[in-house]
Amino acid sequence: MFLLGLQKKIMSNITFIMIKPDAVERGLIGNILKDINDAGFNVRALKLTKLSIDEAKTFYSVHSERPFFDELTKYMSRSPIVAAVLEKENAVSEFRKLIGDTDPSTAEKGTIRSRYAISKGENSVHGSDSDENAKIEAQFHFSGREILF
Ligand code: RTP
Ligand code: MG
Repeated sequence: MFLLGLQKKIMSNITFIMIKPDAVERGLIGNILKDINDAGFNVRALKLTKLSIDEAKTFYSVHSERPFFDELTKYMSRSPIVAAVLEKENAVSEFRKLIGDTDPSTAEKGTIRSRYAISKGENSVHGSDSDENAKIEAQFHFSGREILF
């Protein structure tokens, strides 16, 4: 019972995030990590990596029927990304608040996407949309020994 409660607490406190190719290409890794740090997130895993086109297709498979899927997977695999697991209370919703709307033109002022994103497609950052997907996405990118609590 105690262990189950503890596991639930950890699960609702982590999210998986990426700094996407457009932001890495423009030298924004440091700026975005500072915003993440200033917003009170703790880094539990972090790496610079690159998705192959097939990995991008797998990662975003939920969007495979959408008209932007081809553009999205080419973009996400064209150059390096930063992948990270972040911890904070209610991490998933807190991080999505920090990054703002998918489209930078409607993202709230001061959010990461309103500050740095180029367009709805090239929007600088990814954040998981549920605790369940945070776990799946973290495991897609990191082995157990790379996530440190
Ligand atoms: P993400 O998954 O990357 O955190 O973004 P999100 O939840 O805000 O948006 P989602 O609907 O999951 O879309 C995933 C990514 O696909 C690209 N996109 N392009 N051109 C378009 O209309 C369009 N719509 C979505 C974006 O890169 C978006 O973040
Ligand atoms: Mg999404």
